[in-house]
Amino acid sequence: MGRAFVYVILGGGVAAGYAAHEFVKRGVDHGELCIISEEPVAPYERPALSKGYLLPEDSKKSFIVHRVLNFGQIRQSLIVESSMALATVELDMLAQEIGSRVCGGEDDPARLPAFHCCVGTNEERLTPKWYKEHGIELVLGTRVKSADVRRKTLLTATGETITYKILLVATGARALKLEEFGVKGSDAESVCYLRDLADANRLVNVMQSSSGGNAVVIGGGYIGMECAASLVINKINVTMVFPEPHCMARLFTPKIASYYEEYYQAKGVKFVKGTVLTSFDFDSNQKITAVNLRDGTKLPADMVIVGIGIRPNTSLFEGQLTLEKGGIKVNGRMQSSNSSVYAVGDVATFPVKISGETRRLEHVDSARKSARHAVAAIMEPEKTTDFDYLPFFYSRVFALSWQFYGDSTGDVIHFGDFLGNSFGAYWVNNGHVVGSFLEGGTKEEYEAIAKITRLKPEIEDLTDLETQGLGFALLS
Ligand code: FDA
Ligand code: NAD
Repeated sequence: MGRAFVYVILGGGVAAGYAAHEFVKRGVDHGELCIISEEPVAPYERPALSKGYLLPEDSKKSFIVHRVLNFGQIRQSLIVESSMALATVELDMLAQEIGSRVCGGEDDPARLPAFHCCVGTNEERLTPKWYKEHGIELVLGTRVKSADVRRKTLLTATGETITYKILLVATGARALKLEEFGVKGSDAESVCYLRDLADANRLVNVMQSSSGGNAVVIGGGYIGMECAASLVINKINVTMVFPEPHCMARLFTPKIASYYEEYYQAKGVKFVKGTVLTSFDFDSNQKITAVNLRDGTKLPADMVIVGIGIRPNTSLFEGQLTLEKGGIKVNGRMQSSNSSVYAVGDVATFPVKISGETRRLEHVDSARKSARHAVAAIMEPEKTTDFDYLPFFYSRVFALSWQFYGDSTGDVIHFGDFLGNSFGAYWVNNGHVVGSFLEGGTKEEYEAIAKITRLKPEIEDLTDLETQGLGFALLS
């Protein structure tokens, strides 16, 4: 049994949704495009899973706009949440634009179909009906178990062979398991990972049954920080455990990290740093009662959330495509070592022009833009130049919100009010600004730091840059 398509998108996450949208914008014909996804639902905005999805059902959030905007040119159903946001810059900007005209009221946690792609960039919401109307075949709940790039075929776990002319690999990544670090027991009922909708549903159930209890969050990265905030909002006592000396060690400086750690501590979160989990304690019903740490500490636990990083899903292509830095190596057109195979999103290692390096980025903006770029290169090759991407990361927790652009290498210059809620940093490498960070900025301020990072101005005097602070970006 088998089907043939001109274009196949393998994976049904963020990059797949944005790629499908771009294919339609560029005029794909009915029946030409197929998406195969292991997930049972159409592509959605994955960032919602650690934010709006985890809100308690009865939360009263006066600052939430829950849809129906018919204001100026904005005529779209949206979810805009100012502290537990679906969290995209675009939505932030929109929220600021509409200002006091927003309506309050409904405040349920985010649920599909509200956050299907591409609401994260304030574009149309691609429901299953949209795919049908555009003649796109959605093969959902179906895992591809092998790929043959020479024959241009994919074999699904249901035994179907799907043939393509062009393949777009958008398989994303999977969460690393504690077992990979020699710890047993992470399949226990109250141990949660968070990558997909099934994980998020499980997490919501475990949180509900742990209300008023103790949670241990393993990992001080994005999942750890965002989930810890959600747990607090769900009235669960949180202890975060991670091996580094401070949270968000891949990006934050010690000074930036200490601001967030103090903010979290004021919300009741405890931090245990410089150590890792070694084992779980269970009761006679196999329910977790505590976690044991390498430093000898025992922490009581009704539930555990694990966010210890990811591995890109490249295994189907090992030995067939060139891999680099853990991902599928692609050129500036997102094309792999096989010219009929493109890769985008978390799984792709691509040349970042601005830094002259190849990088694999694990963030939603990169997934969206690399997907759109690959489709442009596929459909209009002669008009498409190399991808020129400025790395962009962000997060929003509690009432906090930060953005980062560029590269976090070189000397760091902090600026602003670390006792208030508006501060930032520039990274200066080889005499040029290469990265910038801002907490609590306005739309104009975020745009200014993005612009300055893209321009890479020469810096002669670091002290002068420190004195000018945000003004340097605003006045440049
Ligand atoms: P993504 O993981 O979205 O999709 C991969 C798809 O491929 C999945 O549907 C998977 O089932 C499917 N698949 C894999 N192997 C398959 C196979 N063999 N057969 C069939 N299907 C297969 N970033 C950010 O910038 N800001 C944020 O706030 C957040 N927040 C956030 C929260 C949470 C909970 C997570 C897990 C992640 C984020 N991120 C984020 C990261 C962001 O979501 C991520 O970078 C993008 O989802 C990557 O998009 P991709 O499409 O590459 O992978
Ligand atoms: P991460 O890489 O951000 O953080 C992993 C953390 O795991 C490290 O900071 C470290 O503290 C910890 N760690 C590593 N090994 C450990 C061990 N053996 N024991 C205990 N702790 C250990 O990864 P994540 O937080 O798991 O996030 C997963 C993915 O989801 C990433 O790709 C991330 O970019 C994405 N995500 C992004 C956002 C965002 O951009 N706002 C939000 C949520 C998730």
